[in-house]
Amino acid sequence: MAGDLQTLLGIDAPIVLGPFGGLSSIALTASVSEAGGLGSFGLYGYSGDRIRETAAALRAATGRPFALNLWLPTGDEVRPDEVDLTAARDAVAPLFEAAGVEPPSLPASFLPSWEEQLEAVWDAAPAALSVVFGVPAPGVVAEAHRRGIRVLGTATSVAEAVALADGGVDAVVASGAEAAGHRVSFLRRAEESLVGTFALVPQVVDAVGVPVLAAGGVADRRGVAAAFALGASGVQVGSAFLRTRQSAASDGHRAALASATDTDTVLTRAMSGRLARGIPNRAVHTIERAGAIAPFPAQNWLTGAFRSAAPHDRDLVSLWAGQAAGLSRQDDAAAVFAELAAGLPR
Ligand SMILES: Cc1cc2nc3c(=O)[nH]c(=O)nc-3n(C[C@H](O)[C@H](O)[C@H](O)COP(=O)(O)O)c2cc1C
Repeated sequence: MAGDLQTLLGIDAPIVLGPFGGLSSIALTASVSEAGGLGSFGLYGYSGDRIRETAAALRAATGRPFALNLWLPTGDEVRPDEVDLTAARDAVAPLFEAAGVEPPSLPASFLPSWEEQLEAVWDAAPAALSVVFGVPAPGVVAEAHRRGIRVLGTATSVAEAVALADGGVDAVVASGAEAAGHRVSFLRRAEESLVGTFALVPQVVDAVGVPVLAAGGVADRRGVAAAFALGASGVQVGSAFLRTRQSAASDGHRAALASATDTDTVLTRAMSGRLARGIPNRAVHTIERAGAIAPFPAQNWLTGAFRSAAPHDRDLVSLWAGQAAGLSRQDDAAAVFAELAAGLPR
């Protein structure tokens, strides 16, 4: 039911800008919210203070609802004191040389704590908290609801969608294998959860009683119309917004997206230690050839050091992109939003 999501989230059109962990921008999130959709902002790796600053900047940029996105802890994240990075460091040595920086020494922790991030999200009071990599604990859902914050969970399979709905989330993002970025599977291995959007959405719609957002491969009015024909109540879109004026994507990333074809993306663990979809470049090839990838989040921290030293180098940054990236346009975010909205049921 199309109306459910608008009422639930206080938005005019059921179009959600996907969060981009590490690459969200205030300008893009705010412009999608201003256009009447739900702009999301990815908080991966953000400290509590940075989350509060981000929320303040979003509020200054828009009075409309927005979502904040967190990665749930899965319990298998390695800590700096328990990981041997010798082989992974050797594998990335040529990439540090190309970036012109030295590999960093180990930090006290790779990521801020979940508790620190969650406290800051409560203070930020977004319209919605979206989460990936699991089902939020009952206490988290209850606290969000007590504060009037909606909870969106992300599923890559029917079983994950059912687990999320049973866990009390208000809506499920059904993320097909076409989608850009990480495969956020949590019940089975990501490699065993590569259901395409066309197959995933109707089966999730049949299995859960909450609104379902289709994510993965939706990039224009045709994708939006197809998602609603499959029973979705809304869409979550990433790649189609990556080349907009408001996106934080680097010049190298934009160039790669501009020439991307349907077959140009791969799933790789090379950049972060977790499986993710993007356009392979020298960094991915170098790491995969060496065959030494540290577990998450150590690998993400390690590659982050050369990525941030060469943010516009297409050979060195993460080129996250979905299979429909070839449909992305260099345009204003409002124009991309209008194109998507043209596919909504009337
Ligand atoms: C650079 C980048 C980073 C992403 N990071 C996150 C993230 O941190 N959390 C999340 O829920 N989804 C993340 N995603 C997925 C998007 O929010 C969205 O669901 C996905 O792009 C939809 O598929 P599409 O690209 O085919 O439209 C990311 C996508 C990109 C392109």
